[in-house]
Amino acid sequence: MFSMRGVVYSYSGASAPAVDGVDLEIEPGEWIALVGANGSGKSTLAKISNALLTPTQGVCFVMGMDSSDPECLETIRRSVALVFQNPEDQIVASIVEEDVAFGPENLRLPPDEIGARVERALALTGLTKHRSRGTHSLSGGQKQRLALAGALALEPRALLLDESTSMLDPEGRESFLACLGELNGSGMTLIQITHRMEEAVQARRIVVMEKGRVAWDGPPSTFFDGEYQRWSFEEPPEFALYRELLSRGFVPPATPPRAEDMLASLCL
Ligand SMILES: Nc1ncnc2c1ncn2[C@@H]1O[C@H](COP(=O)(O)OP(=O)(O)OP(=O)(O)O)[C@@H](O)[C@H]1O
Ligand SMILES: [Mg+2]
Repeated sequence: MFSMRGVVYSYSGASAPAVDGVDLEIEPGEWIALVGANGSGKSTLAKISNALLTPTQGVCFVMGMDSSDPECLETIRRSVALVFQNPEDQIVASIVEEDVAFGPENLRLPPDEIGARVERALALTGLTKHRSRGTHSLSGGQKQRLALAGALALEPRALLLDESTSMLDPEGRESFLACLGELNGSGMTLIQITHRMEEAVQARRIVVMEKGRVAWDGPPSTFFDGEYQRWSFEEPPEFALYRELLSRGFVPPATPPRAEDMLASLCL
């Protein structure tokens, strides 16, 4: 799905590259958690992955297409949807269903196809009952699901989520993650940027960024089993919680745990 070789990206005027020599192969259907300290280059790498940014050096292939080839841009951006942290930046219409329809309309799809896509995206994100509401009246979590619905209506092959669960309450997060599980189960490639370790543990592969490079790449079980202690970066607070849990005998289960359950089982 993605093949990056020697990818470097420097923002103009910056003293150091934001992404500094990344080699990464991602197969179709993978579910990856991209983690790392603030400023380690995660968002920049996501933008390179959907050709929003072109590498300063190196190459990024998306489904075999060179992301620096202008003729491939439209297909790449259509195939790889990016959902940002702040849903306000992505909501364009005043009514929920109109907002979801915006992307497919821009693709100039036939009305029947637009309607079908809107139905599917609303159903997947649990927004069907809110379809006629004003987008401004939605809660933060509903807006985040609306941003996801808008991306899903493009029927992408891969979804890049840049801290897209940050505004959800625990219940909203659980249903959002269940939705991701369904999408991945149906073959969609997921790259989820997150600082939340209870989300990272749901992925099938963890990629850790440090200072623009891939510092570690492997399965969650190995990661939480102590691998992550071998390299160092300024860790987000959730890492400290996981370290504490591991020291008390927590074994990452095969099925996704909920942070509340882990805390309850350890009587913290
Ligand atoms: N538009 C920009 N112009 C200049 N420098 C930028 C820009 N966006 C990001 N940077 C710099 O590039 C580096 C990597 O930033 P990036 O946003 O990719 O990191 P990140 O891992 O997503 O961080 P966070 O966890 O805070 O979202 C940082 O040093 C950041 O300051
Ligand atoms: Mg970021």
